[in-house]
Amino acid sequence: MSKGILIGIIGGTGSMGKWFRDFFSDAGHKVLVSGRKTETTYTDIIKECDAVILSVPLDAAIEISGQIGPLLRKNQLLMDLCSLKEAVVKNMLDNTEADVIGTHPLFGPFTDSIKGQNVIFCRGRGEYWLKWLEDEYTSKGAVVSLMDPTVHDRHMAIVQGLTHFLAICMGRTLQKMNMNNSTALSCSTPVFKINYDLIGRLFAQDIGLYQNIISKNIHFSDVLDLFLSVVDEGRDSLLSGQDEKGLLYLENVRDYFKDSCRESLKESNKFINALYGEQ
Ligand SMILES: NC(=O)c1ccc[n+]([C@@H]2O[C@H](COP(=O)([O-])OP(=O)(O)OC[C@H]3O[C@@H](n4cnc5c(N)ncnc54)[C@H](OP(=O)(O)O)[C@@H]3O)[C@@H](O)[C@H]2O)c1
Repeated sequence: MSKGILIGIIGGTGSMGKWFRDFFSDAGHKVLVSGRKTETTYTDIIKECDAVILSVPLDAAIEISGQIGPLLRKNQLLMDLCSLKEAVVKNMLDNTEADVIGTHPLFGPFTDSIKGQNVIFCRGRGEYWLKWLEDEYTSKGAVVSLMDPTVHDRHMAIVQGLTHFLAICMGRTLQKMNMNNSTALSCSTPVFKINYDLIGRLFAQDIGLYQNIISKNIHFSDVLDLFLSVVDEGRDSLLSGQDEKGLLYLENVRDYFKDSCRESLKESNKFINALYGEQ
């Protein structure tokens, strides 16, 4: 595989764009970045670069791939970093003859290293660049999985959609209960503190990204319907006034996780200890 290729990141002025600018520069490649106000334009990027990365919000990625796709050469790569894959991968494929890869790094811009991090690839077109990109990531310790875009988006309806939705709704509940920061902290158990920090973490970042992850995932409303039915089920069992019914309900769920819960206890103890400073 060739070293030192020229990579262009459209949206390279944003947080993930900067992260991948540094990642590819550190790997020995030359990286050009463009944003909406940079001197370097999309045209410069597509003219000069071997690989073009879209690191912009989903709607912009779809719009820009429609504009630049037809101008790309067959031996170039067009790839994106969007958190949802179905629409953007289809759009990239429909608009260019260049090689196409949909990618979703399952980590954010505050991550120190790609080592141990998951990255999902959605095969678009071509083998050369797919192999190149896989080598770039796995040689630095990333865990790359190849996935169909629809399957990816269904999984993300839970992994990101439901997770963030729960954090938002928990935050809204605290707001409605008027539980302010100092009360929350003085009443915190370790588990609550982690949840509280995860709510804060979400609202400390770009809320537009979270809005996109939830509202633009066409599979999320099915997941939410299921979740709401589970809320009713849980209420019926745990608030039934019959201890046995509640315990049976918990046992049933526990059975599903029986192989992984010991490991999860060990893992979560690690971050609880880290939170309070290991002694
Ligand atoms: N943040 C994460 O944790 C994370 C993780 C995985 C994947 N992603 C995905 O990575 C992509 C970029 O996210 P990010 O967090 O880096 O966002 P970001 O920090 O807001 O950066 C967005 C970039 O896109 C450009 N941009 C914004 N709106 C645009 C528009 N309408 N047309 C053209 N360019 C536009 C911005 O350029 P200007 O300089 O002109 O504003 C900026 O360079 C998204 O698709 C997101 O789903 C994000």
